[in-house]
Amino acid sequence: MKVTIVGAGAVGASCAEYIAIKNFASEVVILDIKEGYAEGKAMDLMQTASLNGFDSKIVGTTGDYSKSAGSDVCVITSGIPRKPGMTREELIGINAGIVKTVSASLIEHSPNTIIIVVSNPMDTMTYLVHKTTGLPKNRIIGMGGALDSARFKYRLAEALEAPISDIDGMVLGGHSDTGMIPLTSLATRNSVPVSKFLSEDRLNQVAEDTKVGGATLTKLLGTSAWYAPGAAVSSLVQAIACDQKKMFPCSTMLEGEYGLSDICIGVPVILGKDGIEKIVKIDLSDAEKEKMKNSAEAVSKTNALLEL
Ligand code: NAI
Repeated sequence: MKVTIVGAGAVGASCAEYIAIKNFASEVVILDIKEGYAEGKAMDLMQTASLNGFDSKIVGTTGDYSKSAGSDVCVITSGIPRKPGMTREELIGINAGIVKTVSASLIEHSPNTIIIVVSNPMDTMTYLVHKTTGLPKNRIIGMGGALDSARFKYRLAEALEAPISDIDGMVLGGHSDTGMIPLTSLATRNSVPVSKFLSEDRLNQVAEDTKVGGATLTKLLGTSAWYAPGAAVSSLVQAIACDQKKMFPCSTMLEGEYGLSDICIGVPVILGKDGIEKIVKIDLSDAEKEKMKNSAEAVSKTNALLEL
């Protein structure tokens, strides 16, 4: 398995590190436009190999896409992150141009690749990759829900004072502060609904804390987070590399599923060697259906800003 990560910044490097530590990829290429930056990150990471016990070869390059040739999975993290007080949607002007050029260059050298889009506004960037590359929909995956769900589980474990491994929960919808839909009714602790342990008010607070999870970190760090985003991407890549057939919420092109069409938004999918192998239909409550509709409307508004 060969993986290319475009963008050697905070998220790209963290993603490369987790992929290497999990030791399922033979080669990880990191590409950036900043002269020497990807080479430096790759060298630094390679010098952790004997310490962390991995055999993946990590290669860095400044803009040489021929090094990415034959990649099974390509991850796009290039672009600007938000600063405190900014929304993800405000990044569209700069990031759309970057994501369009980068995806075209990746496909030129790896026509059979699966692309994972991370750059924000992620649902709209995933839609842009669909509209501009012509790749089949199973090979274009937007990463947002896997991260948001991890943040949801963190908040649930905190509220329940329980180990995170006891908790299950999922966040669907758009990857934005207002668009995320933490599915509180389906969240469980050791398979028991969390509503058995938490009051409605506390559960609503967990959902709200989850939705602003990224903004909370941006305020603390002065820029957006990288450990959990990198780990979330590495989990998706691993599910593909190891053909795990594992369910994650991912942004994917919908064609009638969940009553939505011509939009990329977070829904549960099965990830395996072919990328998105199935969109999973789960029963949403009427309130959750309404939230999904509103979330989709907001994503569509951002999509309309694209110059396609
Ligand atoms: P960063 O600024 O640390 O890194 C971005 C890197 O992209 C920089 O090294 C820059 O030189 C590079 N770059 C810019 N244009 C490029 C091009 N044309 N070709 C190759 N490389 C290029 O930013 P960070 O924190 O790594 O975030 C990256 C993106 O990921 C942002 O858009 C951020 O909003 C998004 N993000 C998305 C998440 C998600 O859940 N989908 C979670 C966290 C961040």
